[in-house]
Amino acid sequence: MRIILLGGPGSGKGTQAGFLTRHFGIPQVSSGDMLRAAVREGTALGQKAKGIMDSGALVPDDLIVAMVGERLDRPDCSEGFVLDGFPRTIPQAEALRDAGVVIDTVIEIAVDDEEIVVRMSGRRVHPASGRVYHVAHNPPRVDGRDDETGDELIQRDDDREETVRTRLAVYREQTEPLVEYYRGLAERGELHYARIKGTGEVEEVRSRAIEAVLAA
Ligand code: AP5
Repeated sequence: MRIILLGGPGSGKGTQAGFLTRHFGIPQVSSGDMLRAAVREGTALGQKAKGIMDSGALVPDDLIVAMVGERLDRPDCSEGFVLDGFPRTIPQAEALRDAGVVIDTVIEIAVDDEEIVVRMSGRRVHPASGRVYHVAHNPPRVDGRDDETGDELIQRDDDREETVRTRLAVYREQTEPLVEYYRGLAERGELHYARIKGTGEVEEVRSRAIEAVLAA
């Protein structure tokens, strides 16, 4: 069960990846969470990535491919995984293919840009686990606190409106070509491709995502 979640910033990839990992018992591999952990730990990768992430641009392909490749080699990924935020460029997708990683399902989560800008302003995250909330649409049980640990939730540095707009533009330019790329592979019978509506209740989107995986 090897799944890619594709979609713009704030389309709900992290939220749905969390649901899919719990439902199917496979790990979530989030390139964004891994980079944010590297920034927090002050590693060489984190130091290179911090400014790029804050500007809304993409971290260079070679760094990302090495980081995710190492993660996918770990034993917990042997029965499958949910890729959240990777691949994000055609060269990243080709590197995955060249490494012999077979993908079963690509789910594209579709959300309009204006809805995304609104969503991001209400997003709160638990940095240690990557758990994601929204002050109105997906609130924690206790205001400002993570449901499982009670730790304080934070707002991400790249969730300011102007950075979100840059990230949307970067998505159109560098990531959206992956829609055609994976649709092409689906037409050749190499994987299952599903485009699901990312708006509506979080639980409704969850059902659509699970259905898409089961349809493969
Ligand atoms: P990354 O962390 O991957 O950010 P992103 O793709 O921009 O996606 P987000 O995490 O912002 O959003 P999401 O789709 O996961 O949505 P979420 O579930 O949180 O990347 C950050 C940066 O790292 C990049 O800009 C880049 O610099 C770098 N990077 C990462 N990967 C890279 C790669 N492969 N190559 C190069 N650079 C890379 O939901 C958003 C909000 O909406 C939340 O508050 C949530 O609660 C709420 N929400 C979710 N669903 C719903 C719903 N149905 N209705 C209402 N609200 C909802």
